[in-house]
Amino acid sequence: MERAPLFEKILNYSQKYMARFHIPGHRQGAGLPPQLQNMAPELAKMDLTEVSGLDDLHSPEGVIAEAQSLAACLYGADNTYFLVNGTSCGLQALVLSAAGEGDRILVPRNAHSSVLGGLIFSGAVPEYLQPKIIPYFEIASGIPAGDVAHRISTKNKYKAVLAIHPTYYGTVGDLTGLVQASHQVDMPVIVDEAHGTHLYFQAQTPCGALKCGADCVVQSVHKTGGSFTQSSWLHLKGDRINKKRLKDSLRLVQTTSPSYLLMASLDAARLQLMVHGKQIMQRTLELAVEARKSISQIKGTVLLGEEHTGTGFVGIDPTRLVISVKGLGLTGYKVKQILSSRYGVEVEMADINNVVAIISLGTTPNDVHLLVKALHDLYDRERHNAGKGQVSMVLPPVPPLKLSPRQAWMTGTRSVKINEVSGQISGEMVCVYPPGIPVLYPGEEITAEIMDYLQAVRKMKLHCQGPQDPELNYIRVLDY
Ligand SMILES: Cc1ncc(COP(=O)(O)O)c(C=O)c1O
Repeated sequence: MERAPLFEKILNYSQKYMARFHIPGHRQGAGLPPQLQNMAPELAKMDLTEVSGLDDLHSPEGVIAEAQSLAACLYGADNTYFLVNGTSCGLQALVLSAAGEGDRILVPRNAHSSVLGGLIFSGAVPEYLQPKIIPYFEIASGIPAGDVAHRISTKNKYKAVLAIHPTYYGTVGDLTGLVQASHQVDMPVIVDEAHGTHLYFQAQTPCGALKCGADCVVQSVHKTGGSFTQSSWLHLKGDRINKKRLKDSLRLVQTTSPSYLLMASLDAARLQLMVHGKQIMQRTLELAVEARKSISQIKGTVLLGEEHTGTGFVGIDPTRLVISVKGLGLTGYKVKQILSSRYGVEVEMADINNVVAIISLGTTPNDVHLLVKALHDLYDRERHNAGKGQVSMVLPPVPPLKLSPRQAWMTGTRSVKINEVSGQISGEMVCVYPPGIPVLYPGEEITAEIMDYLQAVRKMKLHCQGPQDPELNYIRVLDY
């Protein structure tokens, strides 16, 4: 059926004049501040939330239910749930549904920060899996399926395992192998497929998580599927995750005033992918191949590709361009900033060694041309720096978990000088780039090795996420 029922319903509804006495108070644009009034008047009219006839996200029975089941049908799920707070709320709801207070769950250490939120809400106890690091790029790849398989020996030891497929850097592990091992003990596999909405339409991309047999999969449709920012969906397959509990959890973590603009954009994106997904991905892949070919000829840069598989990953999404700029003698941060200010090229992200550019359904040949040209020019101008190299640091071992993230959250914290933290229990997450894998989570013991590592990070002024003091002069520890 080539229809977007939710989008159409909202469009029709928004065109009808009615004396409106409901929220949102801007009344289809009339009350918006002048700067916004004329920006997109038709969209402003569609900015509605639950009113009669438009169904209810939390108990859908009408047009939202219809739109969700069309999305389920496209991806081969049993049920799909629209999310208005991104993949973040989907992951939180899944952790809440899968594991309660004291239950154990397997979590990759480089999981998105929303997973920590889910652990705090639920009281579950994580057993962290350490991802492999891709040499030269110094970034996290994945967890070999064998590492998971050997931890799962008895039924009910863990309530669930979380997998990231693909990672931010576009790498994928052997998810089918991981699913098979987990299903042997009837354990659900929760997949963060935030960066993989587009993996279902062409054989040249890695296989999507649902096709690998995952039980529940969350996708940021806004990242690579063409919907508005913040809109995601969650797919459920089979009954290893309790559907009723999942719905209750979604109600707990989502707003009671869901944006119909976001949901309409999900419905329209689903229609576009359903009707044109194959051609769109074909074109996107052609651009990616073109970009890869050109960038691989630029001196001073190295592009992450199939030839690097083997270190925790078995495949790569060709539309994700991870470009090491080590050979230019500049940091990834500096290159990102120069690309933006000097060349008008905005990439997705940077770490100290790399920049990451995404080829997606909206990318044009001219965009690719500008990126390639800018990188060539950058080499010409900056090659005198070449050979200076970047930082490479070995991560300290995963520290012992003394308290669950929830217990740690409930305990007060105090700031302690970095040289006095050894032996204390961390009150915060500390994630250093590279490689972007947290060295500390709340509730973990700060070992002497971690203290030494953090002191080195502080001296080198590496980029850090999580701590209240990003310069790492102080760390927040639990205050018993
Ligand atoms: C791997 C991964 N998972 C989950 C998320 C959260 O997704 P969202 O922004 O849709 O909440 C992100 C966000 O960047 C991410 O990179």
